[in-house]
Amino acid sequence: MKFERLDTRYIPEVAAIEREAMAEPWSENMLLSELENPSSTMIVGVEGGKVICYGGYRRTLNEADILNVAVIKEMRGRGIGKQLMARLISEAKSCGVNTLTLEVSEQNTAAIALYMGFGFEKAGVRKRYYMNSFDALIMRLKLGEGVDKT
Ligand SMILES: CC(C)(COP(=O)(O)OP(=O)(O)OC[C@H]1O[C@@H](n2cnc3c(N)ncnc32)[C@H](O)[C@@H]1OP(=O)(O)O)[C@@H](O)C(=O)NCCC(=O)NCCS
Repeated sequence: MKFERLDTRYIPEVAAIEREAMAEPWSENMLLSELENPSSTMIVGVEGGKVICYGGYRRTLNEADILNVAVIKEMRGRGIGKQLMARLISEAKSCGVNTLTLEVSEQNTAAIALYMGFGFEKAGVRKRYYMNSFDALIMRLKLGEGVDKT
């Protein structure tokens, strides 16, 4: 797998993964505007010309919010999510980010375990954040203090 910056040619594939993976999927237009946002960094993992994972973060000064992170269904459980998070964390760190925050449904045990493996800690709860009315956990990682797998 090779990591690349998201660009317009990958947007239809990423939008299709969003529809399969996310309760509230981003549309192609939403992805396009994220791509055009100078504060955002979006990456895709590509294998054999096909997008197998993607993720990103949006930066504000020294902090960044992790945006959607996903691996295609048939490739989950093979360490790709870990490679993707390691890449996002190391890119954020190398451009001066010192705190990463994300929101994840409290039901999403796989994603929570992935984030905890990198040292993310629970920083709060957002009540009924998702349309399906599950709460969201807010998780935070202070860079330099977590488990450094980058
Ligand atoms: C969350 C997601 C990105 C993980 O990607 P993945 O490639 O399957 O993850 P990996 O194989 O790299 O596993 C990394 C860690 O995640 C955790 N994990 C992965 N799948 C898991 C599962 N089914 N149950 C519990 N923990 C799991 C484990 O801690 C694992 O580490 P370990 O192998 O050392 O135990 C993937 O499941 C996904 O795309 N889900 C749908 C989209 C989504 O929910 N994104 C998060 C939105 S906030």
